[in-house]
Amino acid sequence: ALSRASEALQRLVRDIPDFPEPGVVFKDITPLLADPDGFAAVVEGLAQAGRDADGAVVVDKVVGMEARGFILAAPVALALGVGFVPVRKAGKLPHDTHQATYDLEYGSAVIELHRDSLQAGERVLLLDDVLATGGTARAAADLVGRCGAVPVGLAVLIELGFLPGRATVGDLPVSALLTV
Ligand code: PRP
Repeated sequence: ALSRASEALQRLVRDIPDFPEPGVVFKDITPLLADPDGFAAVVEGLAQAGRDADGAVVVDKVVGMEARGFILAAPVALALGVGFVPVRKAGKLPHDTHQATYDLEYGSAVIELHRDSLQAGERVLLLDDVLATGGTARAAADLVGRCGAVPVGLAVLIELGFLPGRATVGDLPVSALLTV
């Protein structure tokens, strides 16, 4: 399953140079999402991060980061049979939130999580398309912790190995289907 996922990623994710600004090579996953076999392969590959070696589900919630993280986290949550919870950019969530500010590969941002979206002690798998500097993932893990829940892992399609994402997220185990 993991080799099907990494094959799909290598074939169906394209590099867009100088997007959204000069010097950044953007990983465009839209061809992957448009391919049902490739999309299914990466969803199953990501879902493995929420199971133990015997295949038992070991997480209570999947948290996806706006915007591309949503597209992956929702089907992964359904595959695991657990709930999906969104982390959103500031000002989008309607109820009481926790907020975190962080630096991006390009720019900075504020993200939010509904305070009542996670229960104390719940085990959370964080999901996103790309791990770059790790700022988004670290901020999202911080938000999970402020709800009293426990971030137990981060699963991504692609890790940019030339950036310090793993160091930034510290103790949080990272599962990447492809490292470039
Ligand atoms: C991208 C990507 C990750 C994040 C990774 O999202 O989808 O969420 O950046 O970068 P980092 O590891 O350096 O934090 P972006 O902020 O562009 O948001 P979008 O998906 O809403 O376009």
